[in-house]
Amino acid sequence: MTGLFIAFEGGEGAGKSTQARLLAEALRAQGRDVVLTREPGGTAGAEAIRALLLSTEGEGWGPRAEALLFAAARADHVERLIRPTLARGAIVICDRFLDSSRAYQGGGGGVSDEDVLALHAIGSEGLLPDLTVLLTLAPDEAAHRLALRDQGQSDRIGGRDAAYHARVAKAFERFAAAEPQRFARIDAAGDPAQVHARVLAAVERVA
Ligand code: TYD
Repeated sequence: MTGLFIAFEGGEGAGKSTQARLLAEALRAQGRDVVLTREPGGTAGAEAIRALLLSTEGEGWGPRAEALLFAAARADHVERLIRPTLARGAIVICDRFLDSSRAYQGGGGGVSDEDVLALHAIGSEGLLPDLTVLLTLAPDEAAHRLALRDQGQSDRIGGRDAAYHARVAKAFERFAAAEPQRFARIDAAGDPAQVHARVLAAVERVA
């Protein structure tokens, strides 16, 4: 038996973590076995790499080193948590996955999509979600939500300039347009319950 793999993607402040949690709760209430996890992170090794990537101390990493570190964190997460969970027939809900590397290190940082995908092939044998929920939000609304959440304390990547985040958003749109069967593009405007209803409708297609 193989389970179901659902990823949430989108820019900062779109509400991915809230929506991932609400979906996990809804599926558990239906009696499903659900593992809720996140990237970068999800296993001890990947959380250690997360701390390296997001710390605001030191010089940080160039886009290629960053792409390698995200791919290494993902390899550990896929091998130790995601694949075993899917193999027992459970549902994995992941807050960010491969498409974040394609959008941030690729679209934002300039690493080619082919290179990001090659790293994913090496690290994680190319595992893709069954469904990728892309939450979309106008940049000014996202900035407003982030100001409330972070109080000016963003991490190293979240704190990059508006042009970087605009390239990230465009990249996500390209990926969703190129693979409409894998992506559900969902409007993240409105309150969490309204957005959750839209997410559930999309998940019913695959669950
Ligand atoms: P996260 O903690 O999910 O931040 P947020 O709640 O703001 O979405 O992710 C941390 C940061 O890491 C976020 O700015 C996006 C970035 N990121 C990448 O650049 N590449 C990746 O592959 C992943 C998974 C995340």
